[in-house]
Parts: sequence; C-alpha cells; structure tokens
Amino acid sequence: MLAGCSGKQSTLNPHSHASTDLANLFWVMMAVALGGLALVTGLLVVAWIRRGKRGFGSDPDDPHPGERAGWWVVIGMGVVFPIAVVVALFIVSDGLIVNVTSAPAASSTAMTIDAIGHQWYWEFRYPGTKAVTADEMHIPVGARINLVATTADVIHSFWVPTLNRKIDTIPGQQNRILIYAKNAGVYRGTCAEYCGLQHAHMSMLVFAQPKAQFRAWLRKEAAPAASPTASLERQGEQVFLNGACSSCHAIRGTSAAGYVGPDLTHLASRTTLAGDTIPNTPSYLSRWIVDSQHYKPGNEMPDLQLSGAQLHALVAYLESLR
Ligand code: CUA
Repeated sequence: MLAGCSGKQSTLNPHSHASTDLANLFWVMMAVALGGLALVTGLLVVAWIRRGKRGFGSDPDDPHPGERAGWWVVIGMGVVFPIAVVVALFIVSDGLIVNVTSAPAASSTAMTIDAIGHQWYWEFRYPGTKAVTADEMHIPVGARINLVATTADVIHSFWVPTLNRKIDTIPGQQNRILIYAKNAGVYRGTCAEYCGLQHAHMSMLVFAQPKAQFRAWLRKEAAPAASPTASLERQGEQVFLNGACSSCHAIRGTSAAGYVGPDLTHLASRTTLAGDTIPNTPSYLSRWIVDSQHYKPGNEMPDLQLSGAQLHALVAYLESLR
C-alpha cells in the first residue's frame, strides 16, 4: 500500500493542478474516514466499559432509563451527522474537483494530441503534423494539452495518475481531458479499463520536455524514415517490406502502411517496447520479434519464421529508425 504513495505512477505524487486537487481530495476523504472510524470505535469502547451500567440521563422514576437520550444519539450521530459529512464531501469533490479535472475549453489549450487505444498499445497522433508514435507520448512542459481519447477497438481508459484523472476511450465517441505537467520528467500511465488478455501490459510513458526540446522531437517524429545506407540495414528493409511485417505495421517513407500494430517510423527513438513491457534494446527487440507471444500472450503478432540472417538484418534495420 505504501509503495503506491510515491513514484512515477502515483495519484499521490501529483505533477499538475488537477492531480494535486485529486491527491488533496484523497487526503481529505481519508482524514474524514479515519475520524469516523475513531469516533465509532471510541463510542464502542465507551459502551463496552459501561456495559451493565444504566444509560445516559437515567432517572430512578423512568422505567426505561436512558432511552430518550439514546434516541438522540441515534438520530444525531446515526442520521444527521453522516448526512452532513456526506453532503460536505460531495460538495468538495463535485463542486471543486470535477471542475478542475473536466475537459478543457478548446480555446484554452496550446495543442491537441490524439490518444487512440488498441489491443494492446497506445497510439499517439499530433494533429497538424504527420507524427505518429506508440506507447511514448511527448509533451511540452507547462503547456495545456487537449488530449482526445478514442479507441480502435474496445473500451480502454487513458490514465496518467500524476497528471490527471482517467478518461475512458469509447467506440464511436471522442472523450477529452486536460493534460498538463508542471515539471519536466517522465510520467507513467496505464490502461485503466479491462480490455482483454494483455490489459495489464498496456502502459505508456509521458515525457514532459522543455518547449525547444519538445519541438525538436516533434519535427523529427513527423519526418519520414530515412532510407538505410548500410547494406545490412538495406537487407533488413527488404525483409520488412517483402515479408509479413509491412502488412501490419507502417513505416512512413516506405510502402509499409499496415494499421494492425504500431507505426514503427522512429521505433529506435523509443525507450520501451510492447506497452512499456520490455526495454527497447537490440536484444529485447530480436527476442520480441522471434517470440512476442512469450512477452504478451494473445497479441496480434504472429511467429514470422525468420531465418537467423533475416532476423539479424531486420533488427539492424529497425535499430536504424531513429
Ligand atoms: Cu486497454 Cu485495458
């Protein structure tokens, strides 16, 4: 439980105004709940200590001693007090928090990013540019971003706990949420709606960068892949384009335009693979290509039956996609 209070994917480690309000709401709710627990426990202890004794306000002439005082305790502590507490908490959460965490006015944001849920990865698009990436979203720090959440298949939920609440992706619907990072850094997010076998392996990283750095990233990400120059990489490109890879993946600047798996145009610039399941290193990348079902059983990627030489060339090519 305590491990959930810190780190890059904790609601209690807020890095935006919205998530700070959510964290404060948690602490207020927790304090009130603990106060209620202490009160009830205290009353139980008092009742236990006084067991066998006559009730409050006992009167020798009253045949049912303490009954009237007891009723006031029941009505006051059992009805009036809980209603007042719940109404107060409702006002705090609904009136103050929901405003902060609701969709931003379109005019108040600096840019829009589309987040598209897939079984099982996140696709990120930057409208107005050709940039498409997967599982790793870059944003400028200190900028209000209008995040539009949609889905390519089933219901998912986009959730970066350090930045804001979760937002569901519903078929046929666009849901919006404000994404804002006060500090530069890497924040982890995850799919928060059960969406099939690999729901747990549908995470993402958000890189909040200084504006100039972000713009440089976006420019590079929007560009098509550079043609490989080394002969091994060129062989790998042929394996990719002539084999099964290109029917499911796109690499902008080549004839590969599949849309089953992630866009791989700048694959090598990502730090992780497979929904933040494994690091993006040549060795993990080859193991993923050979046996992706070992890491994410049920994912759409088939066994491509590549020879050792083909795999070697393919990995060299994909590693060149910076
Ligand atoms: Cu997508 Cu759970």
